[in-house]
Amino acid sequence: MAELIHVSEASDPRLADYVRLTDGQLRRSLEAAEGLFIAEGAKVIRRALETGHLPRSILMAERWLDSLSDVLPGLDCPVYLVSDATAEALTGFAVHRGALASLTRLPLPALPEVLAPARRIIILEDLVNHTNVGAIFRCAAALDVDAVILAPRCADPLYRRSVKVSMGAVFAVPYARMGDWHKDLALVRDAGFRLLALTPADDALDLEDAAASSGEKVGLLLGSEGDGLSSHWISEADAAVRIPMSPGALSKGVDSLNVVAAAAIACYALTR
Ligand SMILES: C[S@@+](CC[C@H](N)C(=O)[O-])C[C@H]1O[C@@H](n2cnc3c(N)ncnc32)[C@H](O)[C@@H]1O
Repeated sequence: MAELIHVSEASDPRLADYVRLTDGQLRRSLEAAEGLFIAEGAKVIRRALETGHLPRSILMAERWLDSLSDVLPGLDCPVYLVSDATAEALTGFAVHRGALASLTRLPLPALPEVLAPARRIIILEDLVNHTNVGAIFRCAAALDVDAVILAPRCADPLYRRSVKVSMGAVFAVPYARMGDWHKDLALVRDAGFRLLALTPADDALDLEDAAASSGEKVGLLLGSEGDGLSSHWISEADAAVRIPMSPGALSKGVDSLNVVAAAAIACYALTR
């Protein structure tokens, strides 16, 4: 049974896993150094536990104990009970969504291991926004995508915002991170995937036509929020593919879709 421990000071070293959760730079280095990630809310914590992630500790206000009463008896970790004020002073935000858990990261599988059983994959270049990464995992889980591949610089799916927005899909959809941005796309192609580079460029093939002839194994390449896909990745792809936008979009100042919207539309087109 998890041990319940009341803690009153935000500076208590036992709470160090939860310090300044809104400070991206600090969190990235702390979580990498400690091999941990943070899950937020009973539902997401339960999913993390169900998928084999070991808890280091749980932090919550006492009133949230019931929300995890089914799992706490089976856990072997401390549960720190804090006031709302202590939680806010520690994490940097008002923790209204119930429990937080600090969990140990599992080793990531190698690229070939994730590719072998997959037919439909999403490949993310240098996305910087954790919300977008989490939402794309949710699309992947909802729209029959077997795996997600990340470029070396793509944002972390286990960052708190990604985990939360994905509703735990980051635990359900297998993913791997490339070691080499320049060379590893060729490994994906060599594994039999037809690579479709999603771009709003006018001279790209229409998505509907590309989807009709996409073949057995398909990889959808999505680019960063600012610059989009690099010219290197577009040139490595089998085809550049666009989701046609309304002719009036440009006059409204819109030259592309948000990357999550593009992912959802492209995944849906492939499932039809
Ligand atoms: C915000 S967009 C980047 C816009 C960037 N200026 C460009 O030209 O790609 C982020 C990503 O969403 C995808 N995307 C956005 N709009 C798209 C469209 N109309 N067709 C296909 N992909 C699109 C692309 O993968 C793109 O790299």
